[in-house]
Amino acid sequence: MTVPAWTWTYEGYDPAEETLRESICTLGNGVFATRGAASETPAGEVHYPGTYAAGVYNRLTSRVGQGPAAREVENEDMVNLPDWLPLRYRMRPAGAPPGDWLTPDGPELRRHRQTLDMRHGTLTRETVYEDGAGHRLTVRQLRFVHMGDPHLAVQRTEFTPEGWSGTLEVRSGIDGGVRNAGVPRYRDLAGHHLCDWRTGTAAEDTVTLGCRTNASGIHLALAARTRAGTHVPGTPVEGNGGNGGGWNGNRRTRAVASPVPAEAVRTVTGERGAFQELSLPVRAGVTVFVDKTVALSTGRERAAEQDREAARLAARAADFGVLLAAHRRAWEGLWQRTPLEVRGRAGRILRLHRFHLLGTLSPHTAALDAGVPARGLHGEAYRGHVFWDELFVLPYLNLHFPEVSRALLGYRYRRLPAACRAAREKGLDGAMFPWQSGSEGREETQEMHLNPRSGRWLPDHSRLQHHVGSAVAYNVWRYWQSTGDRDFLVTQGAEMLWGIARFWSSLARFDPGLGRYRIRGVVGPDEYHDGYPDAPLPGLDDNAYTNATAAWVLARARETYALLPDRERRLLCERLDVTEAERARWEEVSRLLHLPHHEGVISQFSGYERLAPLDWEGLRARYGDIRRLDRILEAEGDSPNRYQASKQADVLMLGYLFPPTELAALFTQLGYELDEARWHRTVDYYLARTSHGSTLSAVVHAWILARARRAEAWRYCEEALAGDVADLQGGTTGEGIHLGAMGGTLDLVQRGLPGLEVRDGALWLAPAPLPQLSKFAIGFRLAEYGEVKLRLRRNRVQVALSAASPRPLRVRVGRREMLVEPGTAPWVEVNGR
Ligand code: BGC
Repeated sequence: MTVPAWTWTYEGYDPAEETLRESICTLGNGVFATRGAASETPAGEVHYPGTYAAGVYNRLTSRVGQGPAAREVENEDMVNLPDWLPLRYRMRPAGAPPGDWLTPDGPELRRHRQTLDMRHGTLTRETVYEDGAGHRLTVRQLRFVHMGDPHLAVQRTEFTPEGWSGTLEVRSGIDGGVRNAGVPRYRDLAGHHLCDWRTGTAAEDTVTLGCRTNASGIHLALAARTRAGTHVPGTPVEGNGGNGGGWNGNRRTRAVASPVPAEAVRTVTGERGAFQELSLPVRAGVTVFVDKTVALSTGRERAAEQDREAARLAARAADFGVLLAAHRRAWEGLWQRTPLEVRGRAGRILRLHRFHLLGTLSPHTAALDAGVPARGLHGEAYRGHVFWDELFVLPYLNLHFPEVSRALLGYRYRRLPAACRAAREKGLDGAMFPWQSGSEGREETQEMHLNPRSGRWLPDHSRLQHHVGSAVAYNVWRYWQSTGDRDFLVTQGAEMLWGIARFWSSLARFDPGLGRYRIRGVVGPDEYHDGYPDAPLPGLDDNAYTNATAAWVLARARETYALLPDRERRLLCERLDVTEAERARWEEVSRLLHLPHHEGVISQFSGYERLAPLDWEGLRARYGDIRRLDRILEAEGDSPNRYQASKQADVLMLGYLFPPTELAALFTQLGYELDEARWHRTVDYYLARTSHGSTLSAVVHAWILARARRAEAWRYCEEALAGDVADLQGGTTGEGIHLGAMGGTLDLVQRGLPGLEVRDGALWLAPAPLPQLSKFAIGFRLAEYGEVKLRLRRNRVQVALSAASPRPLRVRVGRREMLVEPGTAPWVEVNGR
């Protein structure tokens, strides 16, 4: 039986919530994902079926704006692939004409329920229809995107007629006539990414559809095998999944599937779609089913080869039950690698976050050239681009799937030449990673964005967020610290760190008046400030987050120099022309970057204190939800640049990235003092000035408040957890989940609350349990030690080391240090007693 804690159920059908549910019920395997859309209806105002494959992008040009302000813009998008879900059906009782095609939107709908089973990675949709003459049809559909075989997706649909016998007409196939239209504010932009459709049949039960992305030239081929069958009552189900009778093991029938007799099938291939129409004889009370097994192949090889590959995969695929059993086993393996025991609602949501993280980035991703898409493979918001959000995801993955982290860092490494080119074009040295990255590693941030509130297209300066480079460097370093993967450091890590350090060093200019280095003309994580009020050029000076992280990167670049083996160090220095003089400059800049302060707090940037205070209460009274303050103010002819009002954590991000001692040391390195009082003042100051217009903001605030202001931390935890399930950013989840926030909430429990760090060959813990979340357990893998399990209780923590570990683990809890022997699980008091 499925434990409710592992399921996510929507009772009833609500067209207004449909796109949100589609995102939350998306199924993926790290290679591709499909939204949890109805199979009965095509894309429209209510439904948006979408299938996306990691790294499959295409570039199109569109015209935006009106009159003299009109201009051409180019955008690269993650492509909505041909839709493999379509499966429509209608009743034809004996002697009567066929009824209407049944859909959840039609008048025949009586009941609807859909359940995401996270443990098994399946989505079940149960619907009951009844027509005016009392003919009922119960439809039960189960689908999965195969976690074991990453090119397959499967959908079984069961039909039970009641009060009639006759024929069930089914139309099943693949629809290639799709476009990218999932985000209303992009709808004026070009969205037709596919061309060169080819349709056909590969076997009597299999239709095929191939096409190509029209600019990037990626060939896509899908093959759908359709078989039908009947449940034979009274036959015991064979084991877990068995041959797929009762898919949750709760039905005492056996499913026998076979190709539908030729006379009952009509294949209909159009220019952009390939379908099969089946006429299935049905009897009242007897369940029949239709199995659709779909293979997807993508690549740059010739079209014919892709077609053959998809057809081969579909032909070779086992029966439903065997596929389902293998799929469940693959998920079970993933759950075992990510142990997390949190009770109640928080636990259930965290399970959902893990589910979507793994559906986007699974061990299969390690074989691809793909980054961390900010909105998962779940929708088209942000065009599938890769931002700094990996900062919230990789530290979590490092302790479970280091091979996936390494591959994701490899995505950045392969785009290092593009980042160096981008810096050169700006007259700078080193690597300037793009704020938004897609297939090539060039800057993909849109130049104009639409404010849906005012209808105006506005210049977008968010590309000035060069701090993304520090996020890449941070992940390189944390990966190296948690895994000790020296091969990575030597072959890729050091080169990335040095390239990013070199960029910061070339961007920083010495200001003799200040006696410090300054970085000017940038944007920090808070996107509501992209320039000074009324200034002719965008960009801000001395963003504290940018400067502090740049100083940290420069210091790590120097540390890496010392870490490399002699020969590798010499070769790399020669190849990259890193001289002693350059390293000396890194050292100098890392000590002398300017961090502005005012009123005893760290300034977000120089001049923040001169901005006007915002009338928060007045705006709230007028608008209610003011998270997207930027849109509200712009629509009023105003600008957030004029106010002390941040979209999300900016200065406070420093407390997210660096544990208190590391942050204090970073400030000391820069010649500033950061004591607890100053940090707490800074936290309070920005807390009162932040609108949380990004889901990342709640994660960061939960993390830092757990230490700075415990009583308030839970509010932000709850907000971070509810971000997608309750669609807190007002309609954005339907356009894709927020992967950074999902990863961040998991990492909050894994590293944030336990205060977990892996460094210097030891596990450091500084637990800060919240009263509402003081009892939980997590498990992870440490390179060279194996499985470790932590159990937290109000004032105690238990560290269990697997008996298979080859050596004892050094653990520091507060000021106490101890050696945990393999196979033991000692408890330690948190306050060091
Ligand atoms: C946030 C960014 C984030 C991006 C993608 C924006 O709303 O401000 O920090 O990287 O969304 O998730």
